[in-house]
Amino acid sequence: MSSHKPIVVVTGGAGFIGSHTVDALIEAGNRVVVLDDFRTGKRANLARWLAPEHRFDGAHAALEIVTCDVAHGIFAALEPITSRYGRVERIVHLAAQVSVVASIANPLVDMSVNYGGTLHVLEYARACNVSKVAFASSAAVYGDVTEMPVAETTPCRPVSPYGIDKYASELALDYYASVHNVPTTALRFFNVYGPRQDPTSPYSGVISIFADRARAGALLTIFGDGSQTRDFVYVGDVVRALLAAVADGNTRTVANVGTGREITVLELAQTIVALGGGASTIAHAPARGGEILKSRANVDRLRDRFGVVAQTPLVDGLRATLA
Ligand code: NAD
Ligand code: UD1
Repeated sequence: MSSHKPIVVVTGGAGFIGSHTVDALIEAGNRVVVLDDFRTGKRANLARWLAPEHRFDGAHAALEIVTCDVAHGIFAALEPITSRYGRVERIVHLAAQVSVVASIANPLVDMSVNYGGTLHVLEYARACNVSKVAFASSAAVYGDVTEMPVAETTPCRPVSPYGIDKYASELALDYYASVHNVPTTALRFFNVYGPRQDPTSPYSGVISIFADRARAGALLTIFGDGSQTRDFVYVGDVVRALLAAVADGNTRTVANVGTGREITVLELAQTIVALGGGASTIAHAPARGGEILKSRANVDRLRDRFGVVAQTPLVDGLRATLA
């Protein structure tokens, strides 16, 4: 019976958003192959599914892990699994270098992983008749837009290599959908946060860093005056959007994934300090270059096409993250 469950590949499945996506896909009855090179991802994020009984040849087929760079040799890496257990039906493509700042420091790495990786995934999908590719794009494709909220019809003028590579990936998805009949959907995530987001790099997501600092009673550093805004969306809401996007019935679709609300980084820092017990103080450092100043999603298309509305209030999501 288990051999008939669809196989879904999740690239970047050992990471923050990826591991929550894996949990939801397996709970929905899929067999999942995580393709990840573990440069930021962790096996511990997949701990629930690491027991031998969850291997595809075990009693409760659920998870296989393929350690591979998404931009090199994914055909050969997936072949031992597909020859034994059947074709890949769907792909959720999340593997990427995720920091805007790191992309400015090293655009060549960003381009080869974030754009090159997408091309490898799309070539695999074309050659192997994959039924659907869902891709993690980003609000960074819009660039420095001043009119809020930003809708999908807004022209894309990215201001960082990361934003350029995400936009180029979207164009490649559209090309493969229209010319090679590979059904694709790109979701433009706004700022995603929640448990398992790794706070250890200076390039980590701001909520993971602030939560880590607040728990330790340490200093929170705001880049700039803190008036820049972001639309912070809880990872559980993002996963619901991904599961809807990787299902049948939509192709050549691009949709924002956010809450439709924005908060300044200063207010965010103050809220996290209060939730963390109030022991931390806040300092300011020079603003980062290449940053967008305002960000708030128009989320009508996400609701209308996918029936998904972000439900988690920021304070609830912050409490779950701090815990
Ligand atoms: P993450 O760093 O936790 O996850 C990325 C995963 O990809 C990691 O497991 C990492 O090991 C893997 N990976 C990176 N390069 C790889 C490569 N060359 N080959 C194979 N695996 C590789 O980050 P995340 O926040 O979970 O991001 C997931 C996706 O969502 C990314 O595509 C990111 O650009 C996108 N996104 C994230 C946010 C956010 O706020 N976190 C917002 C917009 C878009
Ligand atoms: C984030 C994501 C990026 C995604 C984009 C979509 C990460 C690391 N980056 O980029 O993948 O495509 O959202 O909108 O998840 N800040 C501080 N102090 C800190 C850290 C950050 O003040 O210690 C500020 C930054 O200057 C920025 C804001 O917080 O203004 C958010 O920064 P960050 O979490 O790095 O995310 P983005 O650059 O928005």
